[in-house]
Amino acid sequence: MKQKIIGTGLSGLVGSRLVELLGDKYEFIDFSLDTNVNVLDKENLAAAFAKNSDAVAVLHMAAFTDTNGAWEQRGDKSGICYQLNVEGTRNILELAKQYNQYFIYISTDFVFDGTKTTPYTETDTPDPIEWYGETKYLGEKVVTDSGYNAAIVRITYPYRANFANKPDIIHKVLAKLQNGEVVKMFSDQICTYTFIDDIAYGLDKFFENKYTGIYHLVGSSSRSPYEMSKLVAKTFGYDENLVQPSSLEEFVKSQPEGSRPWQKCLITSNQKTKDLGINMKTLEEGLIEIKNQTK
Ligand SMILES: NC(=O)c1ccc[n+]([C@@H]2O[C@H](COP(=O)([O-])OP(=O)(O)OC[C@H]3O[C@@H](n4cnc5c(N)ncnc54)[C@H](OP(=O)(O)O)[C@@H]3O)[C@@H](O)[C@H]2O)c1
Repeated sequence: MKQKIIGTGLSGLVGSRLVELLGDKYEFIDFSLDTNVNVLDKENLAAAFAKNSDAVAVLHMAAFTDTNGAWEQRGDKSGICYQLNVEGTRNILELAKQYNQYFIYISTDFVFDGTKTTPYTETDTPDPIEWYGETKYLGEKVVTDSGYNAAIVRITYPYRANFANKPDIIHKVLAKLQNGEVVKMFSDQICTYTFIDDIAYGLDKFFENKYTGIYHLVGSSSRSPYEMSKLVAKTFGYDENLVQPSSLEEFVKSQPEGSRPWQKCLITSNQKTKDLGINMKTLEEGLIEIKNQTK
């Protein structure tokens, strides 16, 4: 019999691929608004947990992920961003504890301020600079402060072959290239892009081994958005000259006072997950894989 895993956010960009790839191995119970489970409604959530008390694990991915929208709510604890990312995490963790279920909280590299020019590791202290990152970090603190044996798994810039509902960064670039449009991307920012299939297979190892602590389940190379876009053009056979550099620093200077701050350098180390035997693709490898899957 398949082990039962409760998941929030399973209809999202990352979660829906997890279900596609691991659905034969695990029975995923989807807690989402579509299945009439709201992580902000304690009574409703408790009833859903009671019905699934035999689940062995809880994967908490539901989040308010619109970073610009989050900035509009900064400081507002009654806003949906804080409520979902912090209070939603508290609600679901309390129930996972009650039923003694292994808990994984999916987090982000946006917990860091992006000023470190060497790779961020799991021992670096977060210092978020915008509201989405801050609320995700507060969600992490709910987990660590609870003392529960849980995993906090940070992922970064996830991309996959197909997902019509919400284009990832690679597909935003691809859409412009397909239309013959110029793609202007920052050359003075660095990000770590992660192939979602690797996240799914990595999380499978977490379900199997019930690792606890903080982990970076992220891609094996970091690139500027400009370099990433050049690589996308090259891999998919589009005109590389359409990709042109722009500057984050200049962009930030041009913004009105009070605009959201941006992380400049988010090189994220995956050495700790590599040591568990989890292999994460480089951007080059991931792009070839999504090209093959798209054929
Ligand atoms: N995407 C990124 O660039 C990125 C980067 C780093 C980390 N992450 C983290 O990865 C996780 C997954 O991100 P994603 O991009 O896949 O998310 P997403 O596509 O934005 O999906 C959000 C999910 O949250 C669910 N949700 C929203 N409000 C809810 C509520 N009140 N109760 C229950 N479920 C609710 C949605 O369900 P409905 O469909 O029912 O609304 C949806 O499944 C998040 O924790 C995010 O912080 C994402």
